[in-house]
Parts: sequence; C-alpha cells; structure tokens
Amino acid sequence: HRFALPVLASGFSTQKQSSSTMQNFDFYNPTRILFGEGRISEIDDHVPPNANVMVLYGGESARRYGTLHEVVESLGNRRITEFGGIEANPRYETLIRAVEKANTAKVDFLMAVGGGSVIDGAKFVAAAMTFEGDPWSILTQHGANVQSAVPFGTVLTLPATGSEMNQGAVVTNEKRRSKLAFKSPHVFPQFSVLDPTKTYTLPQRQLSNGIADAFVHVIEQYLTYPTGAMIQDRFAEGLLKTLIELAPKLNENNHDYPTRASFMWATTWALNGMIGAGVPKDWASHMIGHELTALYDIDHARTLAIVLPSLLRERREAKREKLLQYAGRVWDIHEGDEESRIEEAIKRTRSFFEGIGIPTYLSDYDLDDAAIDAVVTNLRSHEMTELGEQKEITPEVSRKILQRSL
Ligand code: NZQ
Ligand code: ZN
Repeated sequence: HRFALPVLASGFSTQKQSSSTMQNFDFYNPTRILFGEGRISEIDDHVPPNANVMVLYGGESARRYGTLHEVVESLGNRRITEFGGIEANPRYETLIRAVEKANTAKVDFLMAVGGGSVIDGAKFVAAAMTFEGDPWSILTQHGANVQSAVPFGTVLTLPATGSEMNQGAVVTNEKRRSKLAFKSPHVFPQFSVLDPTKTYTLPQRQLSNGIADAFVHVIEQYLTYPTGAMIQDRFAEGLLKTLIELAPKLNENNHDYPTRASFMWATTWALNGMIGAGVPKDWASHMIGHELTALYDIDHARTLAIVLPSLLRERREAKREKLLQYAGRVWDIHEGDEESRIEEAIKRTRSFFEGIGIPTYLSDYDLDDAAIDAVVTNLRSHEMTELGEQKEITPEVSRKILQRSL
C-alpha cells in the first residue's frame, strides 16, 4: 500500500508523494581511488610536479610502520613540510596551527596519511587555508560558507569513516566541548590510496571500530522508511551482509589480503554518497554519539554502538517497515509475527556489536543519568533538536533513547 501511495496521492498531496518515492538527487563524486597493494609509489603521478606539499599525519603509527616514509619517497623532489600530531577526534586548535604553518610555507597541496581523524583534519586545513573570516564559522555553518579549498590527496590506514571518498569532516573544539561536522564539495580528496596491507598493523580495537562505524553509516541511510529506492536498498543490504560476514575473520593476527581488501572497500562505499542518494537519512545516532565523544572521549564507533540499538527500539513504529525488511533481508529472520521479527533484528544488532568486542551500554563506560543530562544539554546548545529522518527526535526523545542504554 505504501508503494501505491504516490499514484493515489499524486493529485492531493505532494508531501506524501515525496515521502514515499525516491527523491531527486545530484550524484557527484570526483575522488580517484588507487586501490591495492603497492599503490603508494604512484602518488607521484597524481600530485602536480611543482607542488609545495604539506604531509599531515597523526600520532606515531604512520611513521612507525613506514607509511610516512613511502609517501615522502614517492613525492620525490617536491618541497615538503611535515605536520604530525593530529589527534584521534582532531582538535580545532591543532588544525589551526597546521593552517598557519601551511600558509607561512606557501603550501599548495596537502597529503593526509592516516585514518578518518587525519583525513578530516586535512579537509578542515584545506578549507581554512583560503577562508576569509573566522574559521570556526566553517563548523558552526557546517561548511555552507566554504567557497574554495586547497587540493589534497590521502593515504588511508584505517578503514572506517569513508572520509577518503566523501566531502565531510568532523572537528572537535576542546574548549567548547563541541564536536561539529562540515561538508563541502570543495573537500572531496583528489585521490585516495587504499592499500589493504596498510591495515595489518591495526589493533583489534580499531578493526572493530571500523566495522561498527561502517555498519552504522549504512544503517543511518537505509533503516528509515521505504521510498522504493531498490538500488540503494540492495546495495546497503549487500554492504551490511558483507560486514557481518567479514567481522569474525577480522582479527589483528589474521593478515588475509582478500578479507582486508573487502573490508576496506566496504567501509569506503558505506559513506561515499552512493547509498544515500535520493533516500531519507537518519544520522541521529551520529549526532548523539558526537556529543558523547566530545564530553567523555569515547571512540566514535563505540558511541554509535551505544546509541543505535536503543534508537531502533525507541523509533520502532516510525521505522517499522524498514525494520521488517532489515530483519528479513539482512538477518534472514523469517519466522514469527512482525513484532517478534523486529525485536529479534534489534537484538541481533546489539549482539553484533557486543560480538566484536564493543560494549553497548552506558554503564560499560562508567556513565549514568548525569551523562544523559549533559548530552541532552549539549544537543540543545548545538541546535540538534529535530534529529532523524522524520525530524521527530527532540532532545527529550534523545533522552529516552539514552535511558534505554543505561
Ligand atoms: O595517531 P596514530 O598514532 O596514527 O594512531 C591512530 C589513532 O590512534 C591509529 N591508527 C590509524 N591507522 C593505523 C593506526 N594504528 C595502527 N596501524 C594503522 N594502520 O588508530 C587510532 C584512531 O584513528 P582515527 O583516525 O581517529 O580513527 P577513525 O578512522 O575511526 O576516525 C575517527 C574520526 O572520524 C570522524 C569521527 O567522528 C572521528 O573524529 N568521522 C568522520 C566521518 C567523515 N569524514 O565522513 C564520518 C564518521 O561518521 C566519523 O564521524
Ligand atoms: Zn561514523
């Protein structure tokens, strides 16, 4: 009946129509992917020969495991400025120092070597270097005011966020306890190197984080309400099933190339714009999760595992049809009445996170009611007051969601 609505309702209500058919969309993704073992040496072919490059990286991993050296080697005789020390959940204050250093050195190309934090950091630096006015407003205006950016490439060392092939970034301002996102078509990477062997040094915790983050990226763009978007739905279900299949094989001691290759490519596709084209999106788990990270420094992916299962339960009526589709097509749950199938799908989602070693209750992180109050207060001050695909997740609904995770 939902699928019949557009036809029946076409003369009456465009609103109903837009809520049950695929929406109009632009699909634009200019990022070149250099996928496979040994591709770092080809960076040389994709950076302008006379570029004055800043290489950005995180703590120690890029240097310790030799990736930084390979990148510098490939850049040959180009002028290079290094900027290390970009934190997990990159700090605004650190990135502003990178902007100053890059502008002083007249840098005109950036290379990010790391995970989502370093790549996001580079995106912010790229936009802030040419920005006139207070760069903090890039984040408070979520990128709407970004007119240009310095071009950049990336070498991904941690499959998780999808930042290597998208136009988004998230930056934390420690003083303000704010973690805010921005997006702009100017900050798509020019190219990204995806070498699955670069994941071999990842500890279990980061592998599990990567699985969980990508899983929730897909869910946030899929588990909303039906719009008849067959391609996006089937693609999303394929990604979810792939992540579920890969999860038990992804452990820090198993350096199986095909497993790592599929893992890396799945996380990229989870958030490169394709499955989100023309469909409603939730993103409430992310927005609530960002507050948890800003306040309590919990890994991004772990915050999602705390929020999502409870969000699905709180929003089960609004998401009913998609929950049933998810139960059947992703978890192969076909027995029982609708309520029990939905319940089982939500349970399996929570066990999936627990099964890869990610605790899903606030108490597992030593948090209680006081933390919920703090998150709700910050959601208000960040104007996160109408979240979700139906804009119905007010701060009070966010509170109920978190209370289900106590
Ligand atoms: O700092 P180093 O020493 O390099 O260590 C890092 C870091 O401590 C380590 N690491 C990275 N590659 C490694 C490695 N250790 C061993 N071997 C390697 N090959 O891993 C730790 C975590 O890195 P980080 O980059 O913080 O992780 P992740 O990729 O999960 O990124 C998380 C950030 O991305 C944002 C998150 O909010 C968070 O700030 N997100 C960005 C998105 C986007 N741009 O589209 C979407 C996401 O939803 C997410 O919000
Ligand atoms: Zn995420």
